[in-house]
Amino acid sequence: MSETMIRMLLERIQHETGIILSRQTDYDRIKRYLDNGGEMPLTSQPLPVSLINLVTTNETYFEREAHHFNRLMDEILPKLDSRGGTKPIRILSAPCSSGEESYTIALRLLQASKQFSRPIEIVGVDISEEMISKARKGIYSGRSVHAIDKEVLNRFFVFEEGHYRVLPLVQENVRFVSGNVFDAALWKELGSFDVIFSRNMMIYFDSVKNRELLNRFREHLNGYLILGHADDHRNAKDLFTPERIERGVIYHT
Ligand SMILES: C[S@@+](CC[C@H](N)C(=O)[O-])C[C@H]1O[C@@H](n2cnc3c(N)ncnc32)[C@H](O)[C@@H]1O
Repeated sequence: MSETMIRMLLERIQHETGIILSRQTDYDRIKRYLDNGGEMPLTSQPLPVSLINLVTTNETYFEREAHHFNRLMDEILPKLDSRGGTKPIRILSAPCSSGEESYTIALRLLQASKQFSRPIEIVGVDISEEMISKARKGIYSGRSVHAIDKEVLNRFFVFEEGHYRVLPLVQENVRFVSGNVFDAALWKELGSFDVIFSRNMMIYFDSVKNRELLNRFREHLNGYLILGHADDHRNAKDLFTPERIERGVIYHT
């Protein structure tokens, strides 16, 4: 495969997914993939799953940046619930990777002392079909669950064959969708949300893509936006109202 073709492919992946791929190691990785017979997509074809898997970083675990979930339970949901009505409170986890963030929210809801009057829906989205399929299965390693309270782990997971499987009861209110956050058709399908968690994805994007995504969030959000502490918050400060919390800042419309 010629260097020009590899560079064109890198540019296309970066343009479509937002992930910056300008390092020599990115070039080497794609070259190796093609040299080993990996599929070279035509411009009219979607990017193959194997290529998406190659360029995404899927690191995640339950209760990551737990103060965000504390805030959700103690302040955000009671406030949204008090708006009244019977319409569900809709929470998006984009990206959800293998599902730990979405299930952390579901687990927090199952443990809540007070029930909310509005139903609550959780939707997890990720570009990696492999991660979405893992999320739907709900089977995790000890490393993924290390930050979960032991009592919660015993109550809501089954330990089998060296792994922890989340109970169907936890999965009931969580739906997983595979898709690219830059795809307008995906947003048509998703609709709008009261809370968006978007943590540790924009660290891989440049500022232009970061702003494009935040603009998309603004169109689809009437409520709260929660970014990871390592994400670039500069555009968010322009587009949303910041609110200081215990450890960092969240945003609202
Ligand atoms: C490091 S994980 C973050 C998971 C979780 N939010 C957390 O903070 O633990 C980043 C995820 O972003 C996903 N991702 C990257 N670009 C994406 C895009 N354009 N659309 C949807 N998901 C994307 C990757 O597949 C990966 O699973």
